[in-house]
Amino acid sequence: MISGSGTAAQLAPPPTPPDNVMENSVKWILVALVVAASIWGIGAGREIRQAAERERVADQGGQLLRATYSPLHFNPAIDSATDQQCLACHKEVLEEKPRVASPAGVRAADSVAWYQRTSTYNGEQDSFHRRHLVTPMAKNLMNLRCNTCHQGHDPREEAQGASATSASQTDTGFTLRKQVNPETICLKCHGQMPAKEIMGLPGPWPEVKDMFQNDCLGCHAAFRTKRHQVNYLNADAIEDAAKAGQATKTGAEACYGCHGGRPWYRIAYPYARNPWPGMPEGTPEWARLRPQHSELRYLTQPVKSTAAEH
Ligand code: HEC
Ligand code: HEC
Ligand code: HEC
Ligand code: HEC
Ligand code: HEC
Repeated sequence: MISGSGTAAQLAPPPTPPDNVMENSVKWILVALVVAASIWGIGAGREIRQAAERERVADQGGQLLRATYSPLHFNPAIDSATDQQCLACHKEVLEEKPRVASPAGVRAADSVAWYQRTSTYNGEQDSFHRRHLVTPMAKNLMNLRCNTCHQGHDPREEAQGASATSASQTDTGFTLRKQVNPETICLKCHGQMPAKEIMGLPGPWPEVKDMFQNDCLGCHAAFRTKRHQVNYLNADAIEDAAKAGQATKTGAEACYGCHGGRPWYRIAYPYARNPWPGMPEGTPEWARLRPQHSELRYLTQPVKSTAAEH
């Protein structure tokens, strides 16, 4: 069957008697017309489908652009946005979890970072967003919301001064290519503990903690007691966690977790010095430039204004 002559013989037109020629060519013309019509039909159908597809893609492009420029990404709407509003489009930030094992086979459980081996770390490795929003510790001690950290971003420009409409060069809140300002947000819970400089302790906390029964409340039952009055912390639950550990000398673990135990920075956050009952007269030198109340956008109680401040 693969010989050339066999193929040629098969392709040769069948012999036709002369009196059938007319009838046959009419038949063939009809067949050709039908074929042509249906090819045209298929072609037209395809064009309609392609046009619909183009429209769909174009419309989706429009939707993506509209969503990217959702008013919720900007001030002032982002300040009052609820988590539910953000999650309507971004549910992946809470749903996606780290893989059990990497594609190369390294198991998450076998590659634990130092900060995942602290006494307060519970459960499997989890994502950044989930560790701050939905894990048991996050829910117990904290009450973070999307807009605690996210204060809006410019979808077009991620650098200061890059265009006429972008944030100005002097705007340090708009840190290059970051959608959250780390200095004003992350540093609050991930800075150093100024043990020597401000608290007058003889050394860094891990070295001196036994002298204080590993308890911050020994001093902080008297100092800076009007703390954590902000909407992203559960002030009472934090104190309870510290008290619950006093008997077993683990009281400081919860506190230290946000005040030096999980530091991404070599500096400490310059906390506001909210006046507390029994606060001594006069301001220490290091505190002269400190604000006297927490950031307004987080406050859970109205500020009692005194003549000297504001
Ligand atoms: C209508 C849907 C929608 C809503 C509501 C929405 N977003 Fe977005 N968001 C988007 C889209 C679309 C993008 C752009 C994604 C891209 O460019 O890949 C985006 C981008 C972002 C980015 C930047 C991501 C990046 O890598 O550049 C952040 C951060 C963000 N949104 C946070 C929020 C927060 C916080 C809220 C609530 C205050 C919110 N979004 C509400 C749809 C939405
Ligand atoms: C503890 C602070 C914090 C909280 C709370 C938070 N985010 Fe983020 N989010 C970040 C940081 C930091 C990034 C990375 C920003 C960057 O790359 O510049 C980020 C990135 C994102 C992105 C970009 C895509 C990604 O996953 O990296 C989206 C979308 C986003 N957040 C949405 C949300 C939503 C929705 C909520 C509330 C349910 C939320 N975030 C709560 C700090 C936070
Ligand atoms: C209100 C306090 C608070 C703020 C603000 C905060 N964190 Fe955290 N962060 C925590 C606590 C508490 C944990 C430990 C959670 C745990 O162990 O379950 C943590 C854990 C982490 C982890 C480790 C997650 C893991 O996989 O174990 C990273 C990374 C991190 N924070 C980065 C940031 C960054 C970046 C920001 C700023 C966008 C930020 N945090 C803001 C309190 C905070
Ligand atoms: C020996 C007593 C003592 C112990 C123990 C102690 N502190 Fe302090 N702490 C102080 C004093 C004193 C101040 C400064 C009070 C003031 O503002 O005048 C202070 C201030 C602070 C501040 C505010 C720092 C600032 O920059 O405004 C934080 C946060 C803090 N302590 C957390 C802790 C934590 C967490 C622990 C336990 C891990 C702890 N302290 C243990 C005495 C102590
Ligand atoms: C989940 C994180 C977290 C934990 C746990 C935590 N803190 Fe704080 N702490 C913060 C943040 C954030 C602030 C700054 C709040 C603000 O802006 O007023 C703060 C502020 C403070 C201040 C300064 C208060 C002021 O207004 O003068 C002191 C003192 C302090 N914490 C001590 C403690 C002690 C003691 C514990 C344990 C009982 C503790 N913290 C546990 C996050 C935490």
